[in-house]
Amino acid sequence: MATAQVMEANANANMPHTKSTGPCVMIIFGAAGDLTKRKLLPSIYNLLQQNLLSREFAIVGVSRDDFNTEKFRKHVSDSLQQFGAGADPELIEWLANHSYYVQGEFDNPDLYNRLGEQLAQVDKQHNTHGNYFFYLAIAPQFFAMAVEQLGRSGLSSQERNGSWRRVIIEKPFGRDLESARALNHAVKKVLDEEQIYRIDHYLGKETVQNILVFRFGNGLFEPIWNRNHIDHIQITVAETVGVEGRGGYYDTSGTLRDMVPNHIMQLITLTAMEPPISFAADAVRDEQAKVLRAIHPMTAEDVIHNSVRGQYGPGANSKGERLPGYRQEASVDPGSRTETFVALKLGVDNWRWAGVPIYLRTGKRMARRHTEIAIQFKRAPFVLFRDTDVEHLPSNQLVINVQPEEGIALRFGAKVPGPLVQIGPVDMNFNYGDYFGAAPQTGYEVLLYDCMIGDATLFQRADMVEAGWSIVDPVLDVWKALPPREFPNYGAGSWGPREAEELLARDGRHWRNLNA
Ligand code: BG6
Repeated sequence: MATAQVMEANANANMPHTKSTGPCVMIIFGAAGDLTKRKLLPSIYNLLQQNLLSREFAIVGVSRDDFNTEKFRKHVSDSLQQFGAGADPELIEWLANHSYYVQGEFDNPDLYNRLGEQLAQVDKQHNTHGNYFFYLAIAPQFFAMAVEQLGRSGLSSQERNGSWRRVIIEKPFGRDLESARALNHAVKKVLDEEQIYRIDHYLGKETVQNILVFRFGNGLFEPIWNRNHIDHIQITVAETVGVEGRGGYYDTSGTLRDMVPNHIMQLITLTAMEPPISFAADAVRDEQAKVLRAIHPMTAEDVIHNSVRGQYGPGANSKGERLPGYRQEASVDPGSRTETFVALKLGVDNWRWAGVPIYLRTGKRMARRHTEIAIQFKRAPFVLFRDTDVEHLPSNQLVINVQPEEGIALRFGAKVPGPLVQIGPVDMNFNYGDYFGAAPQTGYEVLLYDCMIGDATLFQRADMVEAGWSIVDPVLDVWKALPPREFPNYGAGSWGPREAEELLARDGRHWRNLNA
């Protein structure tokens, strides 16, 4: 996996061109959009600054916006000044001078002809050898069309002189199993699977990648990582933001589609997968795919018992400031029944995990921004303490903090000093920042770098995307057939609806208290 190479290369950052990508051109479809200026350009800048980017590199921006190369260069430098970390004027200028622009509509064949001409010119000028990767940062309804046009124009064809052509496709990859299959079918008519890089930005997060290293790079935890020692797993992905001006998209999507088959499934597969036979892309992805296939398919009755949906009404944040309800957000239907919160109980039907429930919850406008995976171990047999006050000691917990805190905490019981036998919960904490310092990363660096070196480990294969949708499809169906009656059912700034507490309470469990 390239992560290791990036880490090694970071350590050698003052050696020019250490482990840098080979020559190539990044073609950004949707070059005038938000993702480009906030994430993609700053990531390329960071790679450049860390000497991980070939000097034989160029960007070609494509969109329907009325830019030209000169204006786009200004857009590149403005974006880097605004969103880049530690913007060095020389590097910004370098990147701006290596940027080009082609304007047009994504369904117009002429755009692709002009793009081809521009690329031929860029190849000559920057010695980029005809190696191209296309980043589709565009509305999902254009994915299939753009790929079809790339195929028709020959731009995605790899045959010539051993050059490579790759396509990164953003999320959402479909809106249910059927549409994801149709999209896979459409892109695979044009591209080989090895040319397709389905991105999920959660896999760009250091803490998410670290789950693999933590589990398989240490001998200590793996022997207890199973049903014999683990009682259950809790995953929380809580956001304090609302729909942030994306009401139009969100109201047709909802939290289940937006977060579960993609981001949360990444967290689940990395936590639950078997050790891969190597870190080769398909070895890792085979094991992830097996977890997805082992997740117990939900019947309609399971959905009714094991799923909770919520929508926020007006409320207040932790500073006491008033927050509007979801139905009052811009571009949201005032009678909307779209969910902004989901909790699910899932089971994994394999030898390692049989009988160990995975509870997950995710929502907008929750009390605190916090993402974690909590492994709850089984209780110790408390025979020794039978006649004391400590019978109800909580079980050991291992918590992987994904964001904004980044680290791992192990909670266990320790004797409270004094003549009586009293046990108190204590934490052993590892914080990323304390050891490695905070890296100025957007999370996209490793993904772009990996695509440029042809390592697809951190990208989704067709079967994984479809397996993710197969898990949530029954929930979508039942929720559609039985529209929610009690929305809004949680206040903005809270931990979600009461039913989410009940989901665990029925099993004699409760969510970890995550109030800061
Ligand atoms: C996106 C979703 O994919 O992920 C957003 O569309 C969500 O709704 C975001 O807010 C969360 O990403 P992060 O990195 O802030 O956890």
